[in-house]
Amino acid sequence: MRIGILGSGAVGRALAAGFLKHGHEVMVGTRDRAKLQEWIALNPTGAVGQFADAAAFGEVLVLAVKGTGAHEALRAGGVANLAGKTVIDTTNPIADAPPVNGVLKFFTSLDESLMERLQREFANARFVKTFNSVGNASMVDPKFAGGKPTMFICGNDEAAKRTVTGILVQFGWEVADMGKAEAARAIEPLCMLWCIPGFLRQDWVHAFKLLA
Ligand SMILES: NC(=O)c1ccc[n+]([C@@H]2O[C@H](COP(=O)([O-])OP(=O)(O)OC[C@H]3O[C@@H](n4cnc5c(N)ncnc54)[C@H](OP(=O)(O)O)[C@@H]3O)[C@@H](O)[C@H]2O)c1
Repeated sequence: MRIGILGSGAVGRALAAGFLKHGHEVMVGTRDRAKLQEWIALNPTGAVGQFADAAAFGEVLVLAVKGTGAHEALRAGGVANLAGKTVIDTTNPIADAPPVNGVLKFFTSLDESLMERLQREFANARFVKTFNSVGNASMVDPKFAGGKPTMFICGNDEAAKRTVTGILVQFGWEVADMGKAEAARAIEPLCMLWCIPGFLRQDWVHAFKLLA
């Protein structure tokens, strides 16, 4: 598939390399191409452009920007370029205030997630929340002694979730579909929980697994 990635940070770069590794075509979008010089040297088959170039390029899009910049990045991507497309939403609504005893602050409430806000503004896109509850180093081909980890997903469009499930399985995940967009109210805060051992003990290597 052709994958357009909006975001040049650790997540955008890690997923872009992962999609290339698994045989997809990739363009990474940024406002500042200079940030990706090293990445492109390491991944010469990848392409770099503006947010709008990446959004136009991708059959499937990945949103991997700072939560506070998510609306702005998608506007820069261009509403017409989002039409009908699956948007893999990796973002977390982390506020600019510092964590308290290792617990991040969010700018959303438990009654409205960031993904619901994005789905409302960009109604022609098909958002699927995923990849937000693990560190970028474990997003592609995760290896844990405890076995295959679980990625929680949600979104309103079943076909988009099937597309994302296929990608997650290819990337080495078990998938737990938590339903419609409102489930992002529960999935986004998993990021808070995931980060606590990191902030308290510098332990950033772990993932969630759903046992039945
Ligand atoms: N880091 C992780 O391991 C991890 C794990 C799971 C989920 N997440 C989530 O994934 C997202 C990306 O995280 P990250 O660590 O890769 O990077 P980040 O530092 O959170 O975000 C960097 C990206 O955000 C864009 N950006 C920032 N402000 C913007 C604005 N006002 N308008 C448009 N774009 C803006 C930057 O654009 P430019 O390219 O133009 O500079 C850059 O591409 C975040 O929402 C984060 O919470 C992160």
